[in-house]
Amino acid sequence: MIILGIETSCDDTAISLVKGSGGLRRPRFQILAQVISSQTAAHASWGGVVPNLAKREHTKNLVPVLREALGKAKLIKGLTLHLGLKVKPWQIKVTPWGSKGIAFNAVKKILAREPELLEQFLEFIPTLAPPKIDAIAVTVGPGLEPALWTGINLARALALVWKKPVIPVNHLEGHIVSVLAPRGRLLGQGLKGRPWSIKFPALALIVSGGHTELVIMSDWLKYKIIGQTRDDAAGEAFDKVARLLDLPYPGGPAISELAKIYTNQGLPLGQGLKDSPWSLPRPMINSPDFDFSFSGLKTAVRYLLQKIPRTVLDGSQGLSLKIKIAADFQQAVVDVLLAKTAKALEKYRPKTLIVAGGVSANQSLRQQFGARLAADYPEVKLLLPTPSLSIDNATMIALAGYLRFYRGEALLPSLKAALLKAEGRLVLK
Ligand code: KG4
Ligand code: ZN
Repeated sequence: MIILGIETSCDDTAISLVKGSGGLRRPRFQILAQVISSQTAAHASWGGVVPNLAKREHTKNLVPVLREALGKAKLIKGLTLHLGLKVKPWQIKVTPWGSKGIAFNAVKKILAREPELLEQFLEFIPTLAPPKIDAIAVTVGPGLEPALWTGINLARALALVWKKPVIPVNHLEGHIVSVLAPRGRLLGQGLKGRPWSIKFPALALIVSGGHTELVIMSDWLKYKIIGQTRDDAAGEAFDKVARLLDLPYPGGPAISELAKIYTNQGLPLGQGLKDSPWSLPRPMINSPDFDFSFSGLKTAVRYLLQKIPRTVLDGSQGLSLKIKIAADFQQAVVDVLLAKTAKALEKYRPKTLIVAGGVSANQSLRQQFGARLAADYPEVKLLLPTPSLSIDNATMIALAGYLRFYRGEALLPSLKAALLKAEGRLVLK
């Protein structure tokens, strides 16, 4: 079956089309199309994501992204000759709904708060024969509510017009199941790849901009959170420390690039780093629970920077100092994540370890988790998403949607309008 995935929980407008088979027993997937429109440039000058700006950008980008995804997946068929012209709904002759008025009015109501999205929707969708998809999966939370609503409302409007069921998806579940996507670079669309399987019980470490959670998965779609951050998420700490170091947003990739310069010089990683006059803390590394805390680490970087005169930071020595701080900060985060994960591996003895979410794109983290597992837990299979799927995307939402569909959780088109809603603080369970 083919699932259309929609993701707008933060600052990426993403739509994917994924073909799934094998049910819950042996799920396997083929990515037919993945399109992501990043809003990084729009938010960069604010140093972080601004919810209403994110909403506005999604509103502008969703239809173009949808059009591109359907085109890539070769699912645009039966276009009327009006394609490319500014077609008004009442001018369309070959349309399953526009001329009837009922669906048209319902769509207008659903997208009333997103006038720009409504306008583009009405220009594009009526020119299209309903594509051969089986369901629409959409992120309903957690995330920024104004941003989530744009994707949800698009899903509701499409479901109504195309008469397809909608599957509400938890963004964090999307990150976890992102490891099931085919391996390899996504540059060539239509990627198939060998299927990966999760053996249960599994332990998942979700490390993203909004979350740091350790989760036990006893079976498909069954989760128990055993630990989480008490303040900042790991990715959030990367972003905040990057700001302190005058690095661009998002901070994770920027810090990781600087840290690479340090390790490329053959210098060792570890607390305090070589010849460092400081030592950054590893908060809660020895606490008896599985929780995390990263805000103290960020504050330690701030105090450290306050001790270094601005003239030094801006001078010739500044870059090498920042490189050292970036490397030590990154190592501190990896040390804590690895220590808590190892503790959970000892206690729960899972068969699979999944590490997913934006921070799992970090190469040093990937290497160190791989090395530690090979050395100390060779019986545990480590699954990481292909790096381009570590960060937000809609492929993972389509994957989760497929699994949920098999659990019978799709909403029928007639029910969806009333039941779907954005849940900014949705919990994984
Ligand atoms: O999963 P994600 O794309 O969005 C959320 O659900 O939050 O994660 C984004 C986070 C950002 O904080 C970003 O700085 C971080 O992931 N990130 C990284 C790297 N790439 C992205 N952190 C460390 N190293 C990276 N290479
Ligand atoms: Zn995410």
